[in-house]
Amino acid sequence: MSELDKEIHRRRTFAIISHPDAGKTTLTEKLLLFGGAIHVAGAVKSNKIKKTATSDWMEIEKQRGISVATSVMGFEYDGYKINILDTPGHQDFAEDTFRTLTAVDSVIIAVDVAKGVETQTRKLMEVCRMRNTPVMIFVNKMDRDGKDPFDLLDELEEELKINVRPLSWPIDSGQSFKGVYNLYQEKLDLYTPSKQTVTESIEFKDIQSPELEKHIGDSLAAKLREDIELIQGVYPELDIEAYLNGQVAPVFFGSALNNFGVKELLDCFVKIAPSPRPIEAVERVVKPEEEAFTGFIFKIHANMDPNHRSCIAFVKICSGKFERNVNYKHVRFNRQMRFSSPTAFMAQKKETVDEAFAGDIIGLPDTGNFKIGDTLTSGEELHFKGLPSFSPEMFKYIENADPMKTKQLQKGIDQLMDEGVAQLFVNQFNGRKIIGTVGQLQFEVIQYRLLHEYGAQCKWEPINLYKACWIESDNDAELENFKKRKAQYMAKDKEGRDVFLADSNYVLMMAQQDFKEIRFHFTSEF
Ligand code: G4P
Repeated sequence: MSELDKEIHRRRTFAIISHPDAGKTTLTEKLLLFGGAIHVAGAVKSNKIKKTATSDWMEIEKQRGISVATSVMGFEYDGYKINILDTPGHQDFAEDTFRTLTAVDSVIIAVDVAKGVETQTRKLMEVCRMRNTPVMIFVNKMDRDGKDPFDLLDELEEELKINVRPLSWPIDSGQSFKGVYNLYQEKLDLYTPSKQTVTESIEFKDIQSPELEKHIGDSLAAKLREDIELIQGVYPELDIEAYLNGQVAPVFFGSALNNFGVKELLDCFVKIAPSPRPIEAVERVVKPEEEAFTGFIFKIHANMDPNHRSCIAFVKICSGKFERNVNYKHVRFNRQMRFSSPTAFMAQKKETVDEAFAGDIIGLPDTGNFKIGDTLTSGEELHFKGLPSFSPEMFKYIENADPMKTKQLQKGIDQLMDEGVAQLFVNQFNGRKIIGTVGQLQFEVIQYRLLHEYGAQCKWEPINLYKACWIESDNDAELENFKKRKAQYMAKDKEGRDVFLADSNYVLMMAQQDFKEIRFHFTSEF
């Protein structure tokens, strides 16, 4: 195996996703502790915006500063190079999370044992499903009373639309939680409720052995044997191929806060989770082991300090090796560029790196050259796809509030949209600009940033819209007819694609019924 192959195969790039409060931050922190990347608990400042701060934009700005540092957390563990990509917890930034999911090779979902599958988990899983991303599930907070584990497995399968296979199994729960039987490593992991202690782990290949009674008592031993028998009967052995294809999710139980079950999750994860996978570009499929460097920008993080208007463009390396001060082609500009201070992210530090490999994420300081989805290559004309825009959920007209600053406003809107802060649609009938977001907070972010970074003032005006959907058809005449009939509701997105603005679910349904040959898409990738 070549050096390049070795480097690539030991990489595990993933994201932890969850509904807020399920334990994503705690789990991340415990993983970093195992990697020796941090030494004390509490060191990871959560990227999440505290509930109390949702309307306090200045507070959010402060927290955004922190979130650059924790955007990517790289560390070494057991010979593996692990890259955890952080995702904003606040649902108003869900679009950011969606895009981050395009840069990972797999995902760990944290679920609260008491709450089960929640809205945000469901939505994020939809994105994983679109891309067949391999998924592992960590059922968290086993030290608290929660749902019956078998019921929970049913719920996971039903709500997340994926088969599951438990690889560990809880012994009782809540106050009387005793630990788990680890089916993956065939051992008994006993729980002591303390944040510091290391789990007592006993190799236990034969669950029928009377030794089991000694550790967990008669009735729990009998129950565990019964449960395991049921599991073996109902759930087929874990099929790694099926996991890698996103068809079955291994499930672990534990308590992140008590550092229980996390190492077991990690040990299994590094073994079975995929190293960087081939990525589809418009022109061809790009394999990570290819010598030539390729990568794409999946996230742009603006520096909020108005005195230093600069950004960090986050690049996912798709193939080969990236080197500092080497010329690469910015495909959209058809121009060579080299980067003297690319940064890598090790736990909480950013540092300049000389080289990075497929699977890694690097940050490139940028002053407006990049937009989301841009491709960098060693020279090839290549365009990575798969950075979908999702139909926004909230819409407002954006209007100029300072006629002297029209140009600034225009530039600001353009750049913020390139950064992926929100989506812009231009109504083709009246020429008005509409901004679509997934949450109210984004409107505040835009207004604030337009003023502070571009000196432009905007105001919002209400518009009654239910959904924006991208339309296409093989029948040109029908498409033209539709556009004519719905002229008032037709818009173009930033790429000039046709978008239908439906003002109610009813209108949308009628349109779908009346125009059978038109396809209505709720993501821009089709
Ligand atoms: P998030 O990033 O998914 O939003 O969740 P986070 O890790 O911040 O965890 C949410 C809350 O759940 C935190 O409590 C955290 O301490 C708690 N928690 C995480 N894992 C466990 C667990 O295994 N058992 C129990 N009982 N609780 C757990 P908080 O009070 O909201 O925050 P904090 O003040 O403790 O930071």
